[in-house]
Amino acid sequence: MLKGKHIVLGITGGIAAYKSVTLLRLLVKRGAEVQVVITPSGKEFITPVTLSALSGKPVICDFFTANTGEWHSHVDIGLWADAMVIAPATACTIGKMAHGIADNMLVTTYLSAKAPVFVAPAMDLDMMAHPSTTANLALLRSYGNHIIEPAEGELASHLTGRGRMEEPERIVEVLDEFFSRKQPLAGKKVLVTAGPTYERIDPVRFIGNFSTGKMGYAIADAAARMGAEVTLVSGPVSVKASEKGVTTEHVESAREMLASCQKAWPETDIAIMCAAVADYAPANPSGTKIKREGNEPPQITLVKNPDIAATLGAEKRPGQILVGFALETDSEESNAVKKLHSKNLDMIVLNSLRDPQAGFGTDTNKITIFRQGAEPLRFPVKSKREVAVDILDEIIKLH
Ligand code: PMT
Repeated sequence: MLKGKHIVLGITGGIAAYKSVTLLRLLVKRGAEVQVVITPSGKEFITPVTLSALSGKPVICDFFTANTGEWHSHVDIGLWADAMVIAPATACTIGKMAHGIADNMLVTTYLSAKAPVFVAPAMDLDMMAHPSTTANLALLRSYGNHIIEPAEGELASHLTGRGRMEEPERIVEVLDEFFSRKQPLAGKKVLVTAGPTYERIDPVRFIGNFSTGKMGYAIADAAARMGAEVTLVSGPVSVKASEKGVTTEHVESAREMLASCQKAWPETDIAIMCAAVADYAPANPSGTKIKREGNEPPQITLVKNPDIAATLGAEKRPGQILVGFALETDSEESNAVKKLHSKNLDMIVLNSLRDPQAGFGTDTNKITIFRQGAEPLRFPVKSKREVAVDILDEIIKLH
C-alpha cells in the first residue's frame, strides 16, 4: 500500500531519532518516496548525510539553502505529501504543532500539509505524563492528527516507563493499514475528462474556453490516491497529473475527446466528465491562415459538437457510474437537474460562475451535488483538492 506514496518524514531532536533511520529504510523498501524534514535540534542527533543517502533526496531543515539561496516551499512539500509522519516527536514540537508556533521548517510544513499526519511521541516518562503534553496531544487529536502511542520500556534516562517511540516496523504497519482503508477505489477503472477543448478556425486560431484543467486533474489525482487506475483525457492545459496511477491522453478537440472516451468507456467503472467541452466547432476550418486583407471579416459557420457525456450516458451498462459537471451562470439548479436527466447521469456536480471562488482557474470551488432521486448536497468553498475527495466520496456511496 505504500508503493508510490509520498511521505514527509519529520524528525525532531530526541534520542529516538536513531530509529528514524530504520523507519526511513523500511518506507523506502516498501516503495514510498520519502522527503525528510528535520528540525535544527534533530540534526544534533542524526546527520542529514545519512538521511539523504537513504532517501535519495536532500534533507530539508532550513527555509532556504544558504549558499544557493534556493527557497524550500513548505506549502509545496505539504501539498506533495500523501502522509506526514513525525517520528520522533518531542514534547517541544508537539507543543509547537498544537499551538501553531511555526518557527521552523517542520512545523510550517505541518501547518501547510493537507495530507493525514501521524505523530509518534518520544520523551521521558515524566514529560509524557505532564498535563501540558497530555493537553497538547489532545489538541493534535482534535485537529484530526493520528497519534501513534508511545510504548512502555527503558528510556534514554535509564528510567522505565511510557515514552519510548513506537518501533519503526509498527509505524510502517500503521501507515500501511491507513492506506489500505483509504483505497476504496482499488481495482476500479476511472475515466476523467479535464480542461477545455480547442476547435480550430484555422492553423493559428481556435474557439476555446477558460478551463485550466485544475478541477479535473485534482479529481484524477484523488481517484489514483484512492487506488483507482485512472485514464485522464485532457484538453490543452499546462497542469500535470502528479500521481503514478494516472495515464493522461492529450486531445485537442471535442471529437478527439469523444473518440478517447468511447475507447475507454466499455472497460470503465466510473466516468467523471469535468472537461469544459466546446458545444460548437467551425464547420469548415481553413487549412491555411485566414488573412486580414480584404474589408469583410470572415463569416464562421458553426456546427454542433457531439455531447460526450450524453453519448456515454446512452451507452451506459448496469453497474457503470457516469458523473457530469454543470457550469452555470443562471437558473443554476434547474439547469443542472435537466442535464442530470437528459445525459442519463448518476450524479451531476454544479458549480456557478456567480460564486467568485468557483469555476474556471481558481484553486477553490463551491459545489452542489445532485443525484437521481435524492436531496441536493451543498458544500462550502474548499480547495479543488478537497472538492475532488468530496465528489469521489459521494460516488463511492453510489457504488
Ligand atoms: O478546469 P478549471 O479551470 O479547474 O475549471 C473547472 C470547470 C469550471 C471547467 C469544471 O468545474 C466544470 O464545471 N466543468 C464542466 C464545464 C461544462 O462544460 O459544463 P456544461 O454545463 O456546459 O456541460 C455539462 C456536462 O456535459 C459536463 O460534464 C461536460 O463535460 C459535458 N459536455 C458538455 C458539452 C459537450 N459537448 N460534451 C460534454 O460531454
